[in-house]
Amino acid sequence: MAQTTQSAVAAARTAPAAAVEAYLSRFLDGRDMPAHLREAIKYALLAPGKRLRPILVVRCCEAVGGESHLALPPAGAIEIIHNFSLVHDDLPAMDDDDLRRGRPTLHKHTTEAMAILAGDAMTTLAFEMILDGIDVPARAALICRELATATTDMINGQVYDTLPNWDPTVPAFDRLKTIHHNKTGALIRCSCRMGAIAGGASEDQLAAITRYAQAIGLMFQVVDDILDVTQTTEQLGKAAGKDAGKGKLTYPGLIGLDASRQEVQRLQAQAHDALKGFTASADALRDLCDYMATRLK
Ligand code: IPE
Ligand code: IPE
Ligand code: MG
Ligand code: MG
Ligand code: MG
Repeated sequence: MAQTTQSAVAAARTAPAAAVEAYLSRFLDGRDMPAHLREAIKYALLAPGKRLRPILVVRCCEAVGGESHLALPPAGAIEIIHNFSLVHDDLPAMDDDDLRRGRPTLHKHTTEAMAILAGDAMTTLAFEMILDGIDVPARAALICRELATATTDMINGQVYDTLPNWDPTVPAFDRLKTIHHNKTGALIRCSCRMGAIAGGASEDQLAAITRYAQAIGLMFQVVDDILDVTQTTEQLGKAAGKDAGKGKLTYPGLIGLDASRQEVQRLQAQAHDALKGFTASADALRDLCDYMATRLK
């Protein structure tokens, strides 16, 4: 019985994912491109990910009173950018990983050249998706602006991540926060803001959603760092225990596991606090926050 209830909660949480995946598939099938490139993009993009960013887009749209179909173009677009970031993150020149979402990484499945080019193509396809899918030009422009800034911020974060000593005069903990706010926080924050904008948020609603997003964005990467040292490769579907060997600045590496877990709880509470002004329309966001704090994958 308890298990049935749990799976019903999980099903409700991931409910928006199917529509987003269908939207992504239709878009790629309708876009002219070499068959090898389409196959490469679909291999990476449609592999079994958690789809947290597109779910956040849809739920933030709903939280501010918007209809969920309005969120589909930015929801698809953020999943495309996220996958571009994963494909390039896994390349031999970066984290050099062979496993992603329980499958060979794209450069292992095809070639490095194809993985680089698929990542490049995904960057621009995401913007095409928004411009094709939103018919109010001012809103499309605003959403593209959000996505462009967040994508650049994510890349900035990846640069800092590859050079963790980029400025030894800055204390290590501040450098760590800068890496995490950018490499991971930026796309999560953008997911929430794009959803709120697509749903026609008021200024106050957008400000509250942004506070929520800022907290869960950092929290998400703290949890990712914790899982790297506490879970197995089989459980994660990606190589575990790699950060320390690669000299990455991480929360457990810098402040230890207990303090990292406390930080997750602090950020979780901050995210809930940001949603105080919302009624039940934000319950899905409250549940997502708790899931993101306690996930094991
Ligand atoms: C992994 O993100 C990359 C990070 C930013 C830590 P997710 O854990 O959301 O990956 P998928 O999409 O579920 O595979
Ligand atoms: C990933 O950080 C951040 C981006 C892909 C932008 P990680 O390198 O920690 O992500 P995983 O652990 O490989 O998923
Ligand atoms: Mg990385
Ligand atoms: Mg990595
Ligand atoms: Mg990681």
